[in-house]
Amino acid sequence: MTAASATPALPTARPAGCPFDPPEDYANRRETAPTSRVRCPGGMDAWLVTRYSDVRAVLADRAMSSRGASSVHVNPNADLDEEVSPGSIIQLDGAAHARLRKKVIAEFTVRRVEAMREYVQELVESHLDAMLARPGHADLVRDFALPIPSLVICELLGVPYADRARFQHQSTTLVSTDATREEGQRAYDELSTYLAGLFDDKRRNPRDDLFSRLISRGGDDPLSTEELVVLGLSLLVAGHETTANMIALSTLVLLEHPSQRDVVLAQPERAVEELLRYLSVVQFGVLRYATADVQVGSRAVKAGEWLVAALSSANRDEDLFAGADKLDFHRESPRTHVAFGFGAHQCLGQQLARVELQEALTRLFRRVPDLRLAAPRESLVFKHNTLVYGVRELPVAWG
Ligand code: HEM
Repeated sequence: MTAASATPALPTARPAGCPFDPPEDYANRRETAPTSRVRCPGGMDAWLVTRYSDVRAVLADRAMSSRGASSVHVNPNADLDEEVSPGSIIQLDGAAHARLRKKVIAEFTVRRVEAMREYVQELVESHLDAMLARPGHADLVRDFALPIPSLVICELLGVPYADRARFQHQSTTLVSTDATREEGQRAYDELSTYLAGLFDDKRRNPRDDLFSRLISRGGDDPLSTEELVVLGLSLLVAGHETTANMIALSTLVLLEHPSQRDVVLAQPERAVEELLRYLSVVQFGVLRYATADVQVGSRAVKAGEWLVAALSSANRDEDLFAGADKLDFHRESPRTHVAFGFGAHQCLGQQLARVELQEALTRLFRRVPDLRLAAPRESLVFKHNTLVYGVRELPVAWG
């Protein structure tokens, strides 16, 4: 056996019985080898960083590049040396990242996002109306969890109502794990062309939406149409599947912990933070590239090596979270989790995601208090191989 083939695979197998717990191997590693070599599903070798304190230190370290962010370590077809597109906020580093982030962050403040709450409420209610108008059962993923974040992003991008069905169809293909490479590429190309046209129109006829404001606020350093398009697609990819999977999995958790639903209804902010920690849906963590020799805990990492900050492991670290494997809506500091990452790239849409989750979960369980799983739990299919964890279908019934 060669030394290379002896590198253990990135742990992916979740414990039998609890689909919400991360791989058991993470707990062993946190104890015995907190930063150790793994072979990623994409084929590359990396340091797997499992402790909460080390994960935060890595994500806060300016020597760590994000150029290979998103799914490079998970996707066997990804090109590690692919050039980063301007506008790809999640992959840019240093000054280029700071410039873009500064321009967009004003649109994601608590105040701006709160102004969208009413729209989110209407969306949730109208989807519940449609779901409940049918005879007693639904697929909560298809009928509720997927369309809501997708329509919220349409609103953010300023997609006109007449184009939303088509836009949603293409964006579902783009983020779908069932679509072929060709179908995904076609959806990407069509969405790019559509957004370029939309943003050109906004340059000529600005409206009251995020991208019109970004365009008109450009001053002497305007964002190019290419940057705007890639930024728009980044928001779509980053904000759709993550939020949709969180809505569906959180619903399943609450169906299995009926006694906890009262806390969700009474204190949705607190409950949503704990669900984010407990589920940590960015299941393969986030990738970084060391641009200099760095120390991670007691481990020396060399320039040119890759690291995976295992968010789901950090969020179950007993040093921070007593009884970490337990869902506990009464934790003292519910926001210390790293489900949204940490440091310069910490999730830009986190306030929006919180509002969507709070509204979706409270309105769902208030309007459908007798919601129940309509299939044996063992028959549910979970997404074990995708960057974002989730459940493929969630058959539910009521009445
Ligand atoms: C529950 C839902 C969500 C989760 C769990 C989540 C998680 C994350 C994580 C872990 C990162 C850090 C990536 C890294 O460090 O490489 C991130 C970044 C990002 N997220 Fe989210 N996200 C969610 C929802 C959203 C939404 C709704 C949007 C916008 C509509 C969004 C937009 C972004 C963007 C633009 C970035 C990149 C920020 C930057 O690089 O400066 N996310 N997200």
